[in-house]
Amino acid sequence: MKALDGIKILDFTHVQSGPTCTQLLAWFGADVIKVERPGVGDATRKQLIDVPGADSLYFTMLNHNKRSIELNSKNETGKEVLTRLIEECDVLVENFAPGALDRMGFTWERIQEINPKIIMASIKGFGPGKYEDCKVYENVAQCAGGSASTTGFLDGPPLVTGAQIGDSGTGLHLCLGIVTALFQREKTGRGQKVSCAMQDGVLNLSRVKLRDQQRLAAGPLKEYSQYGEGIEFGDATPRAGNDSGGGQPGRILKCKGWEKDPNAYTYFIIQAAVWESVCDVIGKAEWKTQEGYATPPERLDKLNEIFSAVEEWTTTKTKFEVMDICNPLNIPVGPILSMKEIADDDGLYKTGTMVKVDHPERGEYLSVGCPIKLSDSEVEVARSPLLGEHTTEILSEVLGYSGDDLKRVIDSGAVGEAKA
Ligand code: COA
Repeated sequence: MKALDGIKILDFTHVQSGPTCTQLLAWFGADVIKVERPGVGDATRKQLIDVPGADSLYFTMLNHNKRSIELNSKNETGKEVLTRLIEECDVLVENFAPGALDRMGFTWERIQEINPKIIMASIKGFGPGKYEDCKVYENVAQCAGGSASTTGFLDGPPLVTGAQIGDSGTGLHLCLGIVTALFQREKTGRGQKVSCAMQDGVLNLSRVKLRDQQRLAAGPLKEYSQYGEGIEFGDATPRAGNDSGGGQPGRILKCKGWEKDPNAYTYFIIQAAVWESVCDVIGKAEWKTQEGYATPPERLDKLNEIFSAVEEWTTTKTKFEVMDICNPLNIPVGPILSMKEIADDDGLYKTGTMVKVDHPERGEYLSVGCPIKLSDSEVEVARSPLLGEHTTEILSEVLGYSGDDLKRVIDSGAVGEAKA
């Protein structure tokens, strides 16, 4: 059995944020029923196409283990079917633009009337306030949540990150809200509304930068490289390049082959506890006791010199050799892995973190499997559904339509080209 066996999810999500959430729920065993506009479906099905005619990787990698029903929720019969789905499901998840569900006639009040036990989970760009009506995408959330202003180098513009902290990050937050609400429902018997704003999700992940904002009132942030370089602080948390956020000096340094390989780099932290090992490894044993180098505060204005010396050593080694040498000495380092290297990493396939999935339209592709491992709820990654692949099955098996009634729904045009 799986952790969420028996839980039915009405998945009204699209693009990335909502689908990442419902994909996790599906991996934990829930029956996820993805409702899609007839003939159109989730817009990502046809975005960033690499195999003509096939669902895109954008869609397939975010919608594993789900079933798809085509349903026009603005058509009268479609609304009837949606009402039946709300009656049958434990959770409705949506990430439409603000007000879209209300415009369909399905306000939270109406949804509760239909099924008082249902949990309704929503992602919006902003929480209540002056921006609540805005449509929001990933990078907007990264900017509004404080991440962009604190990412990048001091002398450059704000940067967005490659990690999708606005979309996938908020999907994760929502997923936690849903399982928590399901847990509470066990005791109260009631459903509730779970809301996550993308701005809030990004801010939550940028928490340490708000920590630094407040520390600025007590003086400069000494662990930031700019302090050692004598550059004054302004009134907001600055961009810190590749400084490590935890107070231990850290940088990204070149490794052997960096001239040709854009990813021949390592992260290197000169953790105070292993300073002596660092000195030995890089051939600077004298720094262990030398005045100006022996203690962390003394080193703050010499970080550029120290990291240059470390880099002189790292450029003689590959990023993996750096790891092999430093790990046994507890010196924290990490190779900069390219997506190609990750795709070729057998170890990640063994743990199920990377998976190969077969798809009828596109053949085999790689995907990220479930990153959360439950010892008593195994995940088997199954391909994403084709548009409307399960329409008839859901109408009959989940909602109990049969015979003339099923024919009536299909003939109404509310459910695409489903066959009775
Ligand atoms: N049947 C009939 N109509 C449907 C439907 C269905 N099965 N599914 C969707 N629609 C309609 C919606 O009701 C809406 O109609 P309306 O504008 O008349 O109310 C319309 O399709 C478009 O939906 P919308 O959510 O506005 O899509 P969009 O492409 O214009 O905007 C986002 C996309 C992501 C910007 C927007 O949905 C959003 O801001 N979502 C919340 C934040 C979010 O999750 N952003 C990140 C996405 S990764």
